[in-house]
Amino acid sequence: MHFDRLWRGGRLATLSPDREGLGLIDDGAIGCLHGKISWVGRSSDLPAGASADEVIDLQGRLVTPGLIDCHTHLVFAGDRADEFEMRLRGETYETIAQAGGGILSTVRNTRVATQDQLTSGALDRLDRLMAEGVTTLEVKSGYGLTLDDELKMLRAARGLERERAVSVVTSLLAAHTVPPEYRDSRSAYVERICDDIIPAAAAEGLADAVDAFCETSAFTPAEVRRVFETARAHGLPLRLHADQRTAGGGAALAAEFGALSADHLERTDAAGARAMAAAGTVAVLLPGAYYALRDKDLPPVGLFREAGVNMAVATDCNPGSSPLTSILMAMNLAVILFDLTVDEALAGVTREAARALGRFDRIGSLEVGKACDLAVWDATRPVELVYWMGRNPLHSRVFQGVPA
Ligand code: NIG
Ligand code: FE
Repeated sequence: MHFDRLWRGGRLATLSPDREGLGLIDDGAIGCLHGKISWVGRSSDLPAGASADEVIDLQGRLVTPGLIDCHTHLVFAGDRADEFEMRLRGETYETIAQAGGGILSTVRNTRVATQDQLTSGALDRLDRLMAEGVTTLEVKSGYGLTLDDELKMLRAARGLERERAVSVVTSLLAAHTVPPEYRDSRSAYVERICDDIIPAAAAEGLADAVDAFCETSAFTPAEVRRVFETARAHGLPLRLHADQRTAGGGAALAAEFGALSADHLERTDAAGARAMAAAGTVAVLLPGAYYALRDKDLPPVGLFREAGVNMAVATDCNPGSSPLTSILMAMNLAVILFDLTVDEALAGVTREAARALGRFDRIGSLEVGKACDLAVWDATRPVELVYWMGRNPLHSRVFQGVPA
């Protein structure tokens, strides 16, 4: 048996669903051929005569699958630090949005930015995520809200793969908010999304999924339904910002359409959780937004556990509700604020995040046949990734078999 690269002598958190808990293997080894994992197990069980072009001694370090940030709005222009100060003085996310700020203020900045400017802004944030072991991330549009500007955002997101050793999964979020030019004709904007924007994004292969913001300040369940039906007709998987600020039946709606994920979920009820479990829709928990908006209503983690809903954790990195560029901090917030266990937090940024992206056949665990995306940590126990606040124990990162 021959490998391009062989890592040995490490503590592997495989996240394999066939193993207990995190699927730990002490004194583990990972063999890689052509960018994929071709062998994993105990170093002492390596086949006699196994050889490799390069052998790397892990010296007992913990190895996890490369981390996956499955919900980000990484591409945008400008910031909303001024609105942050307004909120500190007592204004709310909603009153700021009603006055034309919020998402729309980022829309104004993003519309006048070039694709290159968007890419370079996103790279600064991407580098911070990659420095913490992220090897795959999802990036949404949603700050363009015209055909050209939504496609520009998706192209900027796709372009990140040419600049860095990372996989990008895109979501078209044209249904993020109603743009000002359609304020008095919202149904005409929904028509544009369905008749122009989704077909164009699908034709160019720019969107891996379609997302929407189901919220009283954004789109009604009936409008989301229309968007979802169109997306489905184009063969695009779905995800939904659901039940974040108000309970709108978003979780059940996502489940009804067999969405890959429903995200936020601070106001989801037991029926929503059961519907998600039945549909296999992953709950994407976003503690950065909960924290930064000083939300008081917790997502029903107990109900998700009880119903058997898989839970992912992500940064929701965006300039408004969650200016968070640290996936490790998202894990820490998830255990402290949402009561996740350490194992749930780590699974939430690996195996479950891969499921939320519909990619668990390719990434998210250390198993034969999967991409050899690894995060090697200057740590031996998984809890060390979750425990520190602002300390990054990453030792090295491997993307598709290559240290990067
Ligand atoms: O995930 N909830 C809707 N969208 C974003 C916020 C975007 C923004 O405020 O710019 C979110 O929290
Ligand atoms: Fe979001």
